[in-house]
Amino acid sequence: MDYIGIGIIGLGTVGKDLVNLLNENNCIIEKRDKISIKIVQILVADVKKKRSDLDDYTKSIITDNQSEFFNNKKINIIVELMGGLTKAYDYIVKAIKLNKHVVTANKDLIASKGVELIKLAKSNKVALEFEASVCGGIPIINMLKTSYAGNKIKIIYGILNGTTNYILSLMESNDLSFEDALIKAQNEGYAEKNPTNDINGLDATSKIAILSSIAFNTNVPMESIKYEGIKGISREDILYAKELGYRIKLLGVAKDLEDYIKIQVNPVLIPKSHPLANIDGVYNAVYLEGNGFDKSMIYGLGAGGLATASSVLGDIINIIRKKDYNKFIWSNSYRNVKINDSKEIYSNYYIRMHIKDITGALSIITGIFGNHEVGIFSVNQKRQLGDSLEVVIVTHKVNEINMEYALILVNESKATTKVCSVIKVEDNI
Ligand SMILES: NC(=O)c1ccc[n+]([C@@H]2O[C@H](COP(=O)([O-])OP(=O)(O)OC[C@H]3O[C@@H](n4cnc5c(N)ncnc54)[C@H](OP(=O)(O)O)[C@@H]3O)[C@@H](O)[C@H]2O)c1
Repeated sequence: MDYIGIGIIGLGTVGKDLVNLLNENNCIIEKRDKISIKIVQILVADVKKKRSDLDDYTKSIITDNQSEFFNNKKINIIVELMGGLTKAYDYIVKAIKLNKHVVTANKDLIASKGVELIKLAKSNKVALEFEASVCGGIPIINMLKTSYAGNKIKIIYGILNGTTNYILSLMESNDLSFEDALIKAQNEGYAEKNPTNDINGLDATSKIAILSSIAFNTNVPMESIKYEGIKGISREDILYAKELGYRIKLLGVAKDLEDYIKIQVNPVLIPKSHPLANIDGVYNAVYLEGNGFDKSMIYGLGAGGLATASSVLGDIINIIRKKDYNKFIWSNSYRNVKINDSKEIYSNYYIRMHIKDITGALSIITGIFGNHEVGIFSVNQKRQLGDSLEVVIVTHKVNEINMEYALILVNESKATTKVCSVIKVEDNI
């Protein structure tokens, strides 16, 4: 039987599981697609590393010799699973220029250099596929590129980072502080030793940049997206949000408002009744609205070797089946629209603050908000804390700039002890 030769760069968490998945499922692929997929060579950083869990054939094809790897004529598709930016970029460019198809799971690279790399692939008439770069095992990119290609996508809401979703779920179910939930997640292997890019929202930002670029037929640079992580969320916020009928999720939110696109990544209160509110643990989910299919949500494992390898293998099979690579998406992005023109962005807010327990304190605070056209929907007094009172204020939809100015004055006010949390509320989903 004919075979397609694969060269893998990287034999870590995803690389190893790609080898395992292919070993397990190649017989199905052979029978169905009448072609075999053969891993021809694997490029790693350290060829001397002990890799006892591999079969003899896999061990025999590991190399650290780049030129031998890239010039191997039996490799038709190169799969980049090493991560990082500079070296991975160099390798992918090299592969494309050698007219090899490329599959990658590298979200950082695709979010920052996706357009350039797709254009390069297109001009070299090869494929560049990156399904695994967003939400691991969830085929959201292919959904947007194929099944939903006949729609105008209006809204994307995504729980795009499993680590932060796990931490928020733990905070709620085990009544833990952010710090304790993070330690527990690290001990259980659901958060990395250095979780900065997950916790601060950067990981989710690269994913929403990729999704919104594809969905809205434009190029959304990562730098245009404001992001905020979950470090400031307290167990009180989670409890009070629950009492108000919401759950807190770190959401990537992208809305196509025709004249401009609103995109952000931040913790958000969403109504408990919304399907996204019930996605717990390490799971990811993407909720979409389009003018044809109306509403849809897909969820699944957003990371992990095997789930990610599943998307990588799907891309490999799609390349084998397809002829017209990169015909669509992104490199054809035809729209040039403003992104995050904050003069026009309106949101509802949840504000938890400590105010002085003195006569008139609350009216001073609500007065400041009123002067900036920040309408108050509700105020709830929660508890006495020494000579302060903890209150939770929920606003009507207000202009974000007005809110920023009002908060500066609220912070400076003699009636304020401390503004603890300011979290957006997504009520209309
Ligand atoms: N892990 C996940 O759950 C997940 C989910 C979605 C996407 N991804 C993405 O998938 C990619 C791989 O992640 P991973 O978790 O599998 O990484 P990993 O476990 O850290 O493995 C990285 C592999 O790359 C190899 N490598 C590093 N530098 C290299 C170089 N200069 N030349 C050749 N090989 C090199 C390493 O070789 P040695 O073995 O010799 O050290 C190692 O085998 C990343 O882009 C990541 O963002 C991962």
